[in-house]
Amino acid sequence: KMNQFVADLMKKMTLEEKIGQLNLVSVGFDVTGPVVSKDVDANIRKGLVGAVLNTYTPVAARKLQQMAVKESRLHIPLIFGYDVIHGHRTIFPIPLGLSASWDLQAIERSARIAAEEASADGLNWVYSPMVDIARDPRWGRIAEGGGEDPYLGSLIARAMVHGYQGDDLSKNNTVMACLKHFALYGAAEAGRDYNTTDMSLQRMYNEYLPPYKAAIDAGVGSVMSSFNDVNGIPATGNKWLLNTLLRDEWGFKGFVATDYTAINEMMAHGMGDEKQVSALALNAGVDQDMVGEVFLKNLAQNLKEGTVKQEQIDVACQRILEAKYKLGLFQDPYRYANDKRAAKTLMSKEFVEASRDIARKCMVLLKNDKNALPLKKSGTIALIGPLANRQRDMIGNWSGAGDWKQAVSVEQGIKNVAGNAVKVVYAQGANIADDQQMIDRLNAHGGELNIDKRAPEAMIQEAVQVAQGADVVVAVVGESQGMTGEAASRADIGLPGQQLELLKALKKTGKPLVIVLMSGRPLTLPWEDKNADAILETWFAGTQAGNAIADVLFGSYNPSGKITATFPQTVGQIPLYYNHKNTGRPFAGVALDKYKSRYLDVTNDPLYPFGYGLSYTTFTYSKPELSKATIKPSEALEVKVNLKNTGNYDGEEVAQLYIRDMVGSSSRPVKELKGFQKVFLKKGESKTLTFRLTAEDLKFYNNDLKFVAEPGDFQVFVGGNSRDVQEASFKLEQ
Ligand code: IFM
Repeated sequence: KMNQFVADLMKKMTLEEKIGQLNLVSVGFDVTGPVVSKDVDANIRKGLVGAVLNTYTPVAARKLQQMAVKESRLHIPLIFGYDVIHGHRTIFPIPLGLSASWDLQAIERSARIAAEEASADGLNWVYSPMVDIARDPRWGRIAEGGGEDPYLGSLIARAMVHGYQGDDLSKNNTVMACLKHFALYGAAEAGRDYNTTDMSLQRMYNEYLPPYKAAIDAGVGSVMSSFNDVNGIPATGNKWLLNTLLRDEWGFKGFVATDYTAINEMMAHGMGDEKQVSALALNAGVDQDMVGEVFLKNLAQNLKEGTVKQEQIDVACQRILEAKYKLGLFQDPYRYANDKRAAKTLMSKEFVEASRDIARKCMVLLKNDKNALPLKKSGTIALIGPLANRQRDMIGNWSGAGDWKQAVSVEQGIKNVAGNAVKVVYAQGANIADDQQMIDRLNAHGGELNIDKRAPEAMIQEAVQVAQGADVVVAVVGESQGMTGEAASRADIGLPGQQLELLKALKKTGKPLVIVLMSGRPLTLPWEDKNADAILETWFAGTQAGNAIADVLFGSYNPSGKITATFPQTVGQIPLYYNHKNTGRPFAGVALDKYKSRYLDVTNDPLYPFGYGLSYTTFTYSKPELSKATIKPSEALEVKVNLKNTGNYDGEEVAQLYIRDMVGSSSRPVKELKGFQKVFLKKGESKTLTFRLTAEDLKFYNNDLKFVAEPGDFQVFVGGNSRDVQEASFKLEQ
């Protein structure tokens, strides 16, 4: 039915109208770059616009949709896309935070709620999930993805696609997801945004591509090509990537959009002039030009000159029209712009409560000495730090339609949760940044920074005085939301400005020092780790951040998050990730061993390893017991482990299973995550967990890119993080 409908429609279309469908314009807000689109209204009426970015609310969307449907010759409806990244109006923690929950249901729920809100608010297409594997925390966009692991990243990708798209795209409460950024954007050299990526195919297939593939397998409707080049060819003009791999090998049937002006940017990449890059993109498999308008300007001429074929324009147009059909837009172009549904849905009580619940699951307790946490609901808390009473930063970066004025600050959250039982005394103590250039840049892009003009010493002095009169210091420090996300790479990933000096001065008061950390990336925290009594990583936790943080601080919720990106000791260790190769000269910890793969000035260890996170209770693991010592390729192995809650609180633990392939036709990582279970245990309770491994889990792409399980010895590890594990061995038979 769809094919016939689209074919009939295309028969009526002129070449210009077909090219018009490939044109995405930005209307309304300028988010990440220049608004190149001109004469938008006139072009919509002429049928020269296929989709719109940055317009939402039922009123605004309906206005543009009416223009397309009532006033263009063929009445073809528009698609409305937007950066719905971690919630639409109700904002959830940033994706790196969401991934730290290791709770796929919670993650899917956040996407489902985002889809409910977006689809009532004029939108039918969201630029999420972002599944770029990132091993470099200097890269600001590490905040937007699921961290460093391909296995966990793949499960998250699938959960998010299901959350957005549901089981039927034509329902009015589902939206089309857009998988991004295809591909390898997270491997930008030196963590500098938009930088080159260059890697072996084997690394790509094993370590970077799995989450994209998982989203394709989950039926994602669209894909966004990335800004970077991939082994010399920009992704947006990369035929191998967009056709051979994505369509021929993986069977993707949806449409490929570029990133913002990415076709134009291929000129700067050195791929030719505007006409050439337009042809390059179309020939590579791009269907939609985001904001650049170079398809609109050049494709007809390209066709005349023979650098593109009619058939390619037709295929691209067909894919866009099919997406519109699947979204049900030809049946009812206004189904996503519903004032009544919007009023009922946007930031509903249920959604806001879900945001608090999900936010709590994402927080990671990095340190907790002498039970500094949870706090007692009595006495005086010195609440110190530039993020302590902020609302703006709580919803984080890429919170497009989120209203930060509705976000709960930490100060407010503490008041909400502890009421009058505790006295809170406050001092800012330091500015979030002291480099004027950084401040100006953040403010120019919505930072709304509160900069206190006093000398840093005076601010610190004031904070110390406030701390002296309190029972405990809660220092809320970290990054401002604008220090992470797109075009927000940092070369130094320590606490910015004078915040470390502030902490050092607070430490000298002798009061228990609890750090509530906000960041969009792993930070280097050697002093903090050594000297603070407790550190709680809260990311940017969303609309309900302050309430959720207070829930954790006072123990109404026992933290259960685990980091999904390694925290290095120092920036010089980057890239540092748990699933590295062994090398021929691994360092085994013998201090005077010189000719080993190591540094002279720092150990190879991370500050906090992948999968790490504490709880207010403690868990112990038994040694894993295997159902067999040897398995045939057709058999499954059961790995049983007893997990016991040995502490004083009920709590949840993320039990993780890793494997190591001891001998391979190419060198294999020292550990690879292959399973996990998030389990709730009452205090004193224990449970036997069973993991199942089959030959499928042991497969990898060999040097010929064949996906194989090679017979031989394997180790299996189970534990509460990637470092502290217990192990057992088995063999895979021929
Ligand atoms: O979706 C984003 C992308 O992640 C970065 N560039 C702009 C796009 C649309 O706003």
